[in-house]
Amino acid sequence: MSTSTPTDHPTNPLREGLSARPTPQPCNVVIFGASGDLTFRKLIPALYNLGADGDLPTAFNVIGFARREKTDEGFRKELEEQARKYSRQGINDELWASFVSRIYYHASTFENLEGYKALAAKLDALDASSGTKGNRLFYLSVAPSEFPVILQKLADVGLNTAKDGAWARVIVEKPFGKDLPSAQALNKVVNDVFSEKETYRIDHYLGKETAQNIMVLRFTNAIIEPLWNSRYIDHVQISGAEPLGVEQRGPYYETSGALRDMIQNHLLQLLTLVAMEPPVELTADAIRDEKVKVFKSLRPMSPEEVARDVVRGQYAAGAIGGKDVIAYRAEDRVNPESMTETYAALKIHIDTWRWAGVPFYVRFGKRLAKGATEIAIQFKNVPTVLFSRDVEIGPNVLVIRIQPDEGISLRIQAKRPGTALDIQPVKMDFAYGTSFGKASPEAYERLLLDAMAGDATLFARRDEVENAWAFIDRIENAWHHSDTPPPLAFYPAGSWGPKEADDLLERDGRAWRRM
Ligand SMILES: NC(=O)c1ccc[n+]([C@@H]2O[C@H](COP(=O)([O-])OP(=O)(O)OC[C@H]3O[C@@H](n4cnc5c(N)ncnc54)[C@H](OP(=O)(O)O)[C@@H]3O)[C@@H](O)[C@H]2O)c1
Repeated sequence: MSTSTPTDHPTNPLREGLSARPTPQPCNVVIFGASGDLTFRKLIPALYNLGADGDLPTAFNVIGFARREKTDEGFRKELEEQARKYSRQGINDELWASFVSRIYYHASTFENLEGYKALAAKLDALDASSGTKGNRLFYLSVAPSEFPVILQKLADVGLNTAKDGAWARVIVEKPFGKDLPSAQALNKVVNDVFSEKETYRIDHYLGKETAQNIMVLRFTNAIIEPLWNSRYIDHVQISGAEPLGVEQRGPYYETSGALRDMIQNHLLQLLTLVAMEPPVELTADAIRDEKVKVFKSLRPMSPEEVARDVVRGQYAAGAIGGKDVIAYRAEDRVNPESMTETYAALKIHIDTWRWAGVPFYVRFGKRLAKGATEIAIQFKNVPTVLFSRDVEIGPNVLVIRIQPDEGISLRIQAKRPGTALDIQPVKMDFAYGTSFGKASPEAYERLLLDAMAGDATLFARRDEVENAWAFIDRIENAWHHSDTPPPLAFYPAGSWGPKEADDLLERDGRAWRRM
């Protein structure tokens, strides 16, 4: 008799790719913008945590590239101060000392060719002294306006091409364009210097544990996928909420807004994971091929449909956590008559067989009552024949919590104990923290590890980004370039958004979930 164990499938491609632990290769990581906020708050703490968990390659160095003169020692001190504030795990002095001894500072402007020649020499020396084998990961932690000069200079000194058997990769940060033409232009700038295979576009939502879990939930549970279609699902809600205002980012936000800043990338990426067909294998391209099909299936909106199915809102003065806060138009360096949306809600149709007739409602807002991101799959109601004559029976709702308290819950109906037939919704809850007894890694940890391992699955491919912009541009155009732009809906800071967004669902006999 033959027996089968779960590991008896050597040729099954589903056992490779995402299911495997990424193995980072020896390398030097060069961070452009090394004294920036992102480096201090996210990148260095992420690398430290990878090191503390034993996930960094043994041969590994970081070179911070920025403008101001400073010594390695001075730079290391600044990093430590910030890492103590922002690291997920507390800083262990011994581990930190060993980690930071592999971090160097390189002072140069982005424009100075000599600085790149010196960088190339430093990288060669580090390869020789620490065994990093000529592998280079360039992290552009800078505004996109700096991409062309940095990429051009890297190419000028030949750092974009790797020596035999080694690799040279680039990680680029959002925002990746502000519309389709600018994204195409930016893609061209990047791909003229690094091939698409070596280009890693960060969307840090994809690195979040629960986002990665969407595919596992869907494609490994027999009770889930058979129900994952228009026959059983009534609608899907994808919501992001932030209590923060624009802080110091007024000028940037004025050119962006909620739709471009959060929905075009993060929330639409989550939507594709929910809506995609099973990939043929768990490789980066097979998965991203399926996601691109979803982007291409988003029904384009006419200006009339935008007026009907999209709400744009802006926060007025209000209160958050008992503290008064000012209106968006009163924020530092914001136009007092600004039409920029700090809230957007959309009803999206996906024109595929699986999703015919199932709306995806997507919303994001700043200065909302709470900070959270979640996906709620609302199932259809049961036929109202038995219990629901006198009792209102709510639908089953599967909620995937992306942040905070990552986890998954399922709302089911249950009989309340007692002699009466009293039906009440209850929640079956899975929380990462309690089920696995340890905190999830930060998104940047996973993404940096994947880039060092050459796995681009959780990074946005060029055609994903461009198709997402093609969908979003029609909405932006209807808002900003039509003769009769839809009005801006105001909401008090600290609320759950404008009434018009509630009306959007109410018209369909539905309501937003309270997160
Ligand atoms: N901050 C976040 O949480 C966050 C989140 C997601 C995405 N992003 C994106 O990540 C990128 C970086 O953001 P950030 O907030 O870290 O930026 P930042 O705080 O403005 O930092 C800019 C960095 O670039 C360096 N720099 C600027 N111009 C330079 C030049 N001409 N030559 C050499 N160095 C120069 C600065 O060096 P000096 O200090 O020496 O002047 C500094 O290290 C942006 O594209 C942003 O949109 C940021």
